[in-house]
Amino acid sequence: MSKNELYSDKIILAPMVRIGTLPTRLLALDYGADLVYTEEIIDWKLLRSKRRENEVLGTIDYIDLTDGTVVFRTCSRETSQVILQIGTSDPDRALKVAQLVESDVAGIDINMGCPKEFSIKGGMGAALLYQPEKAENILKKVISGVKCPVTCKIRVLEDLDETLKLCKRLESCGIAAIAVHGRTKYERQQHSNRIEFLQMISESLSIPVIANGGSKEIDTFEDIIHFKEKTKCSSVMVARAAEWNVSVFSRFGKKPLDDVIKAYLKYAVDYDNSPSNTKYCVQNMLRELQDTEKGKKFLETQTLQQICELWDMQDYFETTHEKQQNEGLIGRRDVCP
Ligand code: FNR
Repeated sequence: MSKNELYSDKIILAPMVRIGTLPTRLLALDYGADLVYTEEIIDWKLLRSKRRENEVLGTIDYIDLTDGTVVFRTCSRETSQVILQIGTSDPDRALKVAQLVESDVAGIDINMGCPKEFSIKGGMGAALLYQPEKAENILKKVISGVKCPVTCKIRVLEDLDETLKLCKRLESCGIAAIAVHGRTKYERQQHSNRIEFLQMISESLSIPVIANGGSKEIDTFEDIIHFKEKTKCSSVMVARAAEWNVSVFSRFGKKPLDDVIKAYLKYAVDYDNSPSNTKYCVQNMLRELQDTEKGKKFLETQTLQQICELWDMQDYFETTHEKQQNEGLIGRRDVCP
């Protein structure tokens, strides 16, 4: 398969901080996503981590050497479909990270769209949209040093011609595809997504363009296809609609939320996902249901076991947990805040 083909005509789980950890990614693949992006991981966090094969879980872990936390956990099931997104402002650091993880992922993506203060101040994310030379240097350096495909995810600029110019500059660096969120750095989710920009970018470039920003209008798989057709892009990347119910990727219809939460918790237990991350993800699925009686009980939980009990999965938790402990799984379980 060519590097471009990997991203062509695909339905993709978008990068989402805290949401895009291993259980969400595997579930997205189960329901039918073709590719799954990790949450953005800042370059220096990966650079101060050590790669470790976790034989008990069957995973590859990148462990932070300063505090022992898992920076990135992956497994062979997703290797050919997982794209690691890096937050970076520096070509040398970006290349080092890409070389470190290359054998464990299908591709590397550079975040050029994050509008948060932390990213902008650090010269990362959307800051790169306004420093195209630096953006080019990062892409060229990474592409020159790894075999896997390299992409970037951007937001549009205020002006269409400027946006097209930027996209062409980035394309000429040798990226395999480009993901475009149709809002500017200054716009938030309530602003409308610039469909016409996405259409024009797709028409102007020869690499696959991945349309993003359509979750407001996405409730089912058919809506994803409709968004793809409307934007005339090769592929679609979905964030919030998948955060709320990841079975949106299913061609056979969206599943009831309780079924999705149970399937999610199974992966959380199987892969010893941290209780705080698990709780955060379930909370973002429950949304207004947090006001129900079960939702209120859920908000009181502090451990993975307590969360599992609420969905009648205590037996599954206990059996799996005991097996993992017997096989020598080490590592501290945090409690939810
Ligand atoms: C995001 N987004 C995001 N983008 C990115 O490039 N890297 C990231 O780590 C994150 N993190 C993140 C977390 C959460 C909780 C949300 C909701 C969003 C932006 C996301 O990928 C996407 O561009 C926007 O949400 C627009 O797409 P949707 O939501 O309309 O499909």
